[in-house]
Amino acid sequence: MLRWCAIVLLVCTGAFGNPTPEMPAAYDTIIIGMGAAGCTAASTLSKAGKKVLALEAMDRIGGRVNTVPFGDGVVEVGAEWIHGTEQSRVYNLAIQNNVSVLPQDIDFEVYRSDGSIGDKKVLNELMTFSLSVIDDPPETPEPLGQFITRRLKDYMKEKYPALLADQDFIDNLLEFLDLVIDNYESSNSWNEVSTESKYTELGGYQHMSWHRHGYKTLFEILLNTYKNGPGYPNLDIKLKKEVTQIAWPQDPTQDVVVTCKDGSSYKAKNVIVTVSLGVLKERHSHLFSPALPQEKVTSIQKVSMGVVGKVIFIFENRWVAENVSSFAFLWRNEDRRALGPDEGWWPNIAATSSPMGNPAGLTLWTVGDMAKLVETLPEDVVKRKAMELIRRFMGKNRTIPEPIAMLRSSWYSNPYTRGSYSYDNLSTPQYPHARATLAEPLVDSSGAPRVLFAGEATDNTHFSTVHGATDTGFREANRLLTKAKL
Ligand SMILES: Cc1cc2nc3c(=O)[nH]c(=O)nc-3n(C[C@H](O)[C@H](O)[C@H](O)COP(=O)(O)OP(=O)(O)OC[C@H]3O[C@@H](n4cnc5c(N)ncnc54)[C@H](O)[C@@H]3O)c2cc1C
Ligand SMILES: *[C@@H]1O[C@H](CO)[C@@H](O)[C@H](O)[C@H]1NC(C)=O
Ligand SMILES: *[C@@H]1O[C@H](CO)[C@@H](O)[C@H](O)[C@H]1NC(C)=O
Ligand SMILES: *[C@@H]1O[C@H](CO)[C@@H](O)[C@H](O)[C@H]1NC(C)=O
Ligand SMILES: *[C@@H]1O[C@H](CO)[C@@H](O)[C@H](O)[C@H]1NC(C)=O
Repeated sequence: MLRWCAIVLLVCTGAFGNPTPEMPAAYDTIIIGMGAAGCTAASTLSKAGKKVLALEAMDRIGGRVNTVPFGDGVVEVGAEWIHGTEQSRVYNLAIQNNVSVLPQDIDFEVYRSDGSIGDKKVLNELMTFSLSVIDDPPETPEPLGQFITRRLKDYMKEKYPALLADQDFIDNLLEFLDLVIDNYESSNSWNEVSTESKYTELGGYQHMSWHRHGYKTLFEILLNTYKNGPGYPNLDIKLKKEVTQIAWPQDPTQDVVVTCKDGSSYKAKNVIVTVSLGVLKERHSHLFSPALPQEKVTSIQKVSMGVVGKVIFIFENRWVAENVSSFAFLWRNEDRRALGPDEGWWPNIAATSSPMGNPAGLTLWTVGDMAKLVETLPEDVVKRKAMELIRRFMGKNRTIPEPIAMLRSSWYSNPYTRGSYSYDNLSTPQYPHARATLAEPLVDSSGAPRVLFAGEATDNTHFSTVHGATDTGFREANRLLTKAKL
């Protein structure tokens, strides 16, 4: 009742400019963005009986998770795996709902640029070693690539002195490992990543796949629509609603007003913003009224947002071995040198993997500036060059068919993501509280949180993942629920 009066008053005094024709409904909370963080917040608040409005700019739920049905399977254009099974909200939700998730073996089969087969055991051992040294960082932060290279060479001196002396192998091994790290981090180079990253792995197997179910199942479970579930009656989800302004009050008696690109506006006691760091970087100065405090702006500027992309081919039938799903491409210097000067991007695709949701698929992974470029190239160029790469490395003893379809991601061009996930770069150690500051709510004069921040980048240790994003949605929903109880 009180809220209703407030609306009438505000419309009469014109405090929010032109009143929209439809009388805006009042909600407890408006959630902006329906990715993993937003859906978890929506689920948590809805279960607690709150009246929730969710506004999503895209025409679908999921954000940086995008499961696309293809043939008799699915492919994942965004997130693919559950990284770790211990204390994972994502893994637990799957298990509690009897959704089988399966481990994907990511041991690489190795192909060289002359079409020969490389040593699988050695490459995987050296890669595992390289990834493991990250857990024991040097006292003084340094570029990750430099650190791994040093440790790796020490290790090889003991175990593989002959390989260490093979400069051609070392050059191309380091280049391959650089690209593997870039895939994990979404960085442009492993020397842009700091050894002092706070990223922490969950325990348990790191590559659990939703396979044919698709990662989208997580969102059905969260929103109570899995297996024809009824959803939440007190949760109102609106798609294709791009939010352009969040006006938040100092006065504890006033509402937050959220305005959309289509002119509609909505009011609520508080708002949870889950848009990506990439979107915040681009829009924060227009999105918030009043503008964000300087401290938060600095955090938005200083945490880096990277790009990882995919080019996914679907073939008529699977032509790679049934029991192997990851393939590494290791160049030889002379083959690389023989390439023309314009062959900039495709030789930097280091690996391909077979998606568990569709056995006839093959995914090429792009990173950094190369990933940004691939998003802008003509379809036929990407297809021709990528197939040329696959045939060069994997086609020595077989005829690789033309794909029947190609899909590619556009996480950087997409105005609602502007990148794939955040990472800790070389200057991050100078801003040790940046992610925590990003997560701090904006409060009114009574100290009540009115604009709250969730999303992958706001998690201090589990950023860049789906489980991290869901944790932040839960964190912010609970900030409101515990506040209300006081
Ligand atoms: C190619 C790729 C592979 C990945 N692989 C993995 C993996 O294997 N495992 C893993 O754990 N993680 C992986 N990730 C990372 C993971 O996908 C993200 O960390 C997670 O999905 C982020 O969720 P979020 O809710 O924080 O943000 P988002 O999913 O980005 O959700 C934010 C939502 O806000 C919406 N939005 C933006 N602007 C507006 C606006 N103005 N108005 C209204 N709505 C707006 C967006 O459309 C979006 O739906 C991958 C990501 C990519 C891109
Ligand atoms: C999962 O399976 C178990 C055992 O078959 C059953 O008891 C339980 O109700 C199932 N849970 C769901 C959510 O379907
Ligand atoms: C191709 O076949 C030959 C002969 O069977 C074999 O020696 C070689 O290892 C194969 N190469 C590849 C890349 O499979
Ligand atoms: C780290 O990333 C931030 C944000 O993108 C950028 O401003 C800064 O220059 C980067 N620092 C280094 C050392 O690359
Ligand atoms: C896959 O199967 C082939 C042929 O049966 C076998 O030689 C190979 O060792 C298997 N590879 C793995 C990783 O299980």
